Amino acid sequence: MPLFKRVYDWIDVRIGARELVKKELTGYLLPRNINEWYSLGSVLLVIFAMQVVTGMLLLVYYVPDADKAFKSVTYIMNELPYGWLMRLCHAVGSNMMVAVLFMHMISTLMMGSYKGPRELNWLTGFTLFAIVQGISLTGYLLPWSQLSFWATTVATNSVSAIPLIGQYLVEFLRGGKMVGPPTLGRFFALHVAVIPVIIALLIGAHLFVLKRTGISSPPFGGDEPVRHWPGDSYRYQSHPGGIPFFPNFALQDLTSIAIYFAVFFGVVFFGPDLPFTPDAFVPADPFKTPAHIKPEWYFLANYQILKIFPSELLGLTVQAAAMTFVALLPFIDRSPERHPLKRPLFLVCSIGGILLWVGLTVWGHYS
Ligand code: HEM
Repeated sequence: MPLFKRVYDWIDVRIGARELVKKELTGYLLPRNINEWYSLGSVLLVIFAMQVVTGMLLLVYYVPDADKAFKSVTYIMNELPYGWLMRLCHAVGSNMMVAVLFMHMISTLMMGSYKGPRELNWLTGFTLFAIVQGISLTGYLLPWSQLSFWATTVATNSVSAIPLIGQYLVEFLRGGKMVGPPTLGRFFALHVAVIPVIIALLIGAHLFVLKRTGISSPPFGGDEPVRHWPGDSYRYQSHPGGIPFFPNFALQDLTSIAIYFAVFFGVVFFGPDLPFTPDAFVPADPFKTPAHIKPEWYFLANYQILKIFPSELLGLTVQAAAMTFVALLPFIDRSPERHPLKRPLFLVCSIGGILLWVGLTVWGHYS
């Protein structure tokens, strides 16, 4: 320990490490009634870091060329030592990220923490949610399997329903009339370089805004007054008499991360086929359309909406309207009340919306 203390003292003299630890960790106070749901943001940070690390390792052997991509993924899975582990962690991790994102969104919805002054937390978060779907979509094409090829064909095709610019947009996305080698090139660049940087910047913005507003106090189970909006001037929400982030809440974060890893590795080791369908194990063939091509589970509701509406344009418009509604929710739902049971209209609409999404997903799966 003396060596550790000497190194710590050395750093402390130079950058004020003790002061930083006091300000950001042991002296950073959170509401006494903070709950488990507030640890999902940290779980998401860990998932993103895991995706970056496993993605970088896959990049060492993956070849972004239409003739070699499928073979390189097969090599990673079957021959490269622990290649299967990296690939499964990356594929399962992407699904888990979307699942945890949904949970984080639902918890901030239910506790009303999207309301003023936290509109920017919500907006940066919502943009993250949309961009994470973009990184999943671009990653789906990279193995260049039948599933990749045809799911991308279907997804990019739906854009053609947009009036006037639709067809141009599809060709721009695909780099040609059909999905082909140029599509792989641009999706690869988006997936490994462009979108990860955008996500990192957005996470930075999300955390910056959180640091400036201060964390909300949960609307239940506490003696601290819940702060209502509107306010007339900027005020950081501090929590005098609250619990320190370190060690108290850091322990909660670690517990949630451990539970996450238990579920995550449970799927990686005991349900490795869950993220794949049989078409994922067949190389892409532009001349052979598979009988049932379905997107990933979190796009099934969107897929089903496009199927049930008489025109694709109408289906796209309904989805765009629903997304815009959710994105602008803090500006639409302006009542200061944050307790879910004291917001019956909100509760009925949000539970109805979630059930509708689940129903459409199940319908999309079996249709
Ligand atoms: C990669 C994606 C994301 C990461 C890494 C992330 C991370 C975090 C972290 C660490 C916190 C603070 C602790 C907590 O409440 O969990 C937080 C808070 C928050 N997040 Fe996210 N988040 C992400 C996506 C989202 C999404 C999709 C939304 C909603 C559309 C969202 C909305 C919020 C809100 C409103 C808060 C403020 C909570 C409060 O002060 O009570 N976040 N986020």
